[in-house]
Formats: sequence, C-alpha cells, structure tokens
Amino acid sequence: MHQQTGIIGSGDMAAHANRIQERVDLLPSGLQAHIYRVCEIARELGRQHGLDEERAALGMLAHDVARATPGGELLRLAPELGVPIGLVDRRVPVMLHGPVGAELLRQHDRIDDGPLLEAVYWHTTSHPSLDTLGKVVFLADKLDPNKQGRYPYLPQLRETAMENLDRATLMFLTQETMARVDRGELVHPAMVEARNHLLTKTLDGLE
Ligand SMILES: [Fe+2]
Ligand SMILES: [Fe+2]
Repeated sequence: MHQQTGIIGSGDMAAHANRIQERVDLLPSGLQAHIYRVCEIARELGRQHGLDEERAALGMLAHDVARATPGGELLRLAPELGVPIGLVDRRVPVMLHGPVGAELLRQHDRIDDGPLLEAVYWHTTSHPSLDTLGKVVFLADKLDPNKQGRYPYLPQLRETAMENLDRATLMFLTQETMARVDRGELVHPAMVEARNHLLTKTLDGLE
C-alpha cells in the first residue's frame, strides 16, 4: 500500500507509517481518496516551507484516521482516551475526530511522535501551539480541491499558504468563523484561541 503515498522512511518513521497505513486501509474509499489528495498538497507545502516532505505526508496520512468513526462512538471513546469534551464537542461530536484519532495512535498504536500527534489532534480547529508540521497538516486538509464549494476562497488560501503559513491559517480561521456565525452555528473555542493568537502576532509585528 505504501506505493500509493510514497511514504518511505527509516526506523521509527517507517514503523509509524505502517501502523497508520493499517488504519487508513480500513477507511471508506472516499475518505482515503481525500487523504491521498491532501498528502500531495502537504508535500508541496512542506517543500515550500522547509519541512521534510515525507513527514508532511505522514502527518496527512494520519490526520483523519478517526474521521469515519460515528459521533456517538467518538463521545464514548473520548473519556476513555482522556480527551476532554467541551460544549461544542458535545453538540458537534465530529469535532472530536482529530483528538480521538491522535490518542488512538498514541495509546493503541504506540506512536510516540509528539509533533505529529499534535498535528493530528488539532487539524480541525488549529491551535496556538501548532508548529510548521501542524500548520501544514491543518492547511493541506482545507486545500483539498474537492472543498472548493465549501471554501470559495480556496485559490487565494492556496496562494497565501505557499507564501506564509500563519497568514493563511489566519485567513482561513477568519473566513470560517464568519461563515459559521453567519449560519448561526457554534464556533469551537480552539478556533477562536488560534485566531486570537495569530491576530495578536500579526498586530505585534506591525508595531
Ligand atoms: Fe479531519
Ligand atoms: Fe481531512
């Protein structure tokens, strides 16, 4: 199966890739297709921002391992894995697929790559603590061409992501927050925190 993603590596990275791939192989084909599309986007973004391409692709391979898990099951698994359930998670359990996926990989699959697990954990909302890998995984997921309908600003987001990951993340979080507020939907506090963090950083840079 590895030929599909071109994930190669040595030692831990190869062992991790094998265990992640086993989970991906069990996912519905449409979700697998999304994962492989965004793997390629993450490679491109990674190359552009000085990140190891294989690592970017591995983060992407891992990001949606719990995306097909039903909401009720996510709510059942979260406390077992020590994932806190906030108000928004309770109402919109799909928000838990990143945290639950990361903890399944950590606790059940013995994956101990902290930055990679963080990237998976926060890939839906972003988080102030994200490093380059986390930002690449977050943005590549949104840059799936099949999401053009949901995110009409996708071409500008892609262009910005190639130039500056923080600016692109801020752009996405602002657009997505406005869209959710407009539709009368809940906004996850991690999204608000991540946006506040990036906005403050930008404003500080202007002073
Ligand atoms: Fe996801
Ligand atoms: Fe995804």
